[in-house]
Amino acid sequence: MQSDITSFDEYKKVHQQSITDKEAYWEQKAETFDWHRKWDKVHSGSFEDGNVKWFEGGKLNITENCLDRHLDEHGDKVAFHFEANDPDEGPRNLTYSELHEEVCKFANVLESKGVGKGDRVAIYMAMTPEIAIATLACARIGAVHSIVFAGFSAQSLADRIQDCDAEMLITNDGLERGTKLVPLKEISDKALQSCPMVNDVIVCQRVGNDIDWEEGRDEWWHDLMANASADHEAEVMEAEDPLFILYTSGSTGKPKGQVHTCGGYMTYVSSTLKNVFQVGQDDVYWCTADAGWITGHSYIIYGPLLNGLTGIIFESTPMHPNPGRLWQVCEKYEVTHFYTSPTAIRALMKEDISYVRDCDLSSLEVLGTVGEPINEEAWHWYDEEIGNGNCPIVDTWWQTETGGMMISPMAGITPTKPGYATLPLPGIEPALMDEDGNEIEGNDVQGNLVIKQPWPGMTRGVWGNHERYMNTYFNKYPGYYFTGDGCRRDEDGYYRITGRVDDVLNVSGHRLGTAEIENAIDEHNKVVEAAIVGYPHDVKGEGVFAFMTCNSEIADPEAFKKEIDDLVAKIISPIAKPDKIQIVQGLPKTRSGKIMRRILRKIAAGETDDLGDTSTLVDPSVVDDIIDGQAY
Ligand code: WTA
Repeated sequence: MQSDITSFDEYKKVHQQSITDKEAYWEQKAETFDWHRKWDKVHSGSFEDGNVKWFEGGKLNITENCLDRHLDEHGDKVAFHFEANDPDEGPRNLTYSELHEEVCKFANVLESKGVGKGDRVAIYMAMTPEIAIATLACARIGAVHSIVFAGFSAQSLADRIQDCDAEMLITNDGLERGTKLVPLKEISDKALQSCPMVNDVIVCQRVGNDIDWEEGRDEWWHDLMANASADHEAEVMEAEDPLFILYTSGSTGKPKGQVHTCGGYMTYVSSTLKNVFQVGQDDVYWCTADAGWITGHSYIIYGPLLNGLTGIIFESTPMHPNPGRLWQVCEKYEVTHFYTSPTAIRALMKEDISYVRDCDLSSLEVLGTVGEPINEEAWHWYDEEIGNGNCPIVDTWWQTETGGMMISPMAGITPTKPGYATLPLPGIEPALMDEDGNEIEGNDVQGNLVIKQPWPGMTRGVWGNHERYMNTYFNKYPGYYFTGDGCRRDEDGYYRITGRVDDVLNVSGHRLGTAEIENAIDEHNKVVEAAIVGYPHDVKGEGVFAFMTCNSEIADPEAFKKEIDDLVAKIISPIAKPDKIQIVQGLPKTRSGKIMRRILRKIAAGETDDLGDTSTLVDPSVVDDIIDGQAY
């Protein structure tokens, strides 16, 4: 099962071939899976028309490739170790056979509730094996899952359920992360007040907290599973049938439901995991993300199972019960391949080094990062303290929209450079564009990152809104996929992502739209208008800075900040709470009424000597007021 690329020269050759003849490359990858019917066409459609298709005519079920396919040879192999929030909770491991059985049973449960192919099912759950079982059971019956990160508010959950018209919600009574209890059922009940389309709620018991119960709508997971049959024949899906919808923030409006499809996504996540991490059959692979984000979809659930790996489902946080938790878990399961976020690394490197040194990390072979740029200091700490200088670091750049990793070293093959995602994976052809739509040639250059050719894992649409799909990704540079990221290509042709070029923030690796946070803050009865910008934050990467004008004097700014925090947590999620707020007399606006965020970003970063041209502002004096003002 080793990757088919084993040296840097081979990488260069395969990459070149894969660009010249992408169909041959991806067809060969797709052939490694079980299909009910082979495709008629490897690829069709274009970025211009927004109608990309892969493996059309092919029929498959992704869960047969995740589960059934492995049963004969290694049904007894552990698919997931479960590491609960409480480190003393007893062990729970699910083998491939056991996971298969649970998924089949839950697939039968879903069908008994009338859910079928194409129906949408929302999943709002704790990080226990049941989130993977629910997800895979949907895929098995052809229902389209939409996982909502369990840190989102009732309103965010409701927005997502309404947008995709989900008819069922699967949740827990509650979850515990660290010392916090999140009452998932209570939040779900609140969300469902505005979701009449949801007829069924399945509640998986986790915490035992008190919950309300709506007869006729709510049912316990364990009651339904008690009598479910473990035989289930997977629904045969078209390659291009939707597999899931996952919402992600953009620069404007509400989050967009990215649609991923069965055949292309399967082929893409599986082969990228193998190439980047160079995983083998005996490896223990741990991705610390949450299943509510794309990283969890692709590299906790689907990718590792497609490769027949042993993975870990981790319910807790890096800080619980102490900042050595991640390293303790690595030691406990003898993790070989470890994948986390720069934010976690930055937070943990501030802690006492004995938390690391007390653990035996000698099993580690490859270290990965994802979600945001990694600064050089964090990269070196990861390399030296965690990897002991022996483990290649794979800094993987990709997006919810891309389905899987796009630009990344291949472990032990691509020479790495701190802070660089390095080179495109096979089948991926990046380019840099200037603002006028010209491709920037050569090396030692910087521009907007685009992708030149379709790849199987790419988003096939924004749920219910083709125009938004086209406008966001394809209309800015016709013939290219626009990523929204800025990027530098250095003298060696290596890529370094510099961050978003649109109004999207990346806070601790979470994508947040400035407009979403502004709209939430605008709901406060004292706020006239808010403007959100990001600023450099030494742990989160980017912090949220909220400037706002108010309609009356704010006597107690600290208390007011708390009200703003609560409001943002309630409307979006605690992850979107501003780190700083500043009440201002006016926001810097152009004559056309546009807020000049460029200036606010400079002020938030403390770079007030270098504000650039302010002459186009209606009232340049507001800038001095803001500089002199105080943030809380
Ligand atoms: C950022 C997460 C720098 C980038 C998989 C992208 C990164 C956004 C990296 C997507 C990286 C992701 N280096 N920046 N290695 N990986 N990003 O959709 O701005 O949650 O556009 O997907 O995260 O975030 P998303």
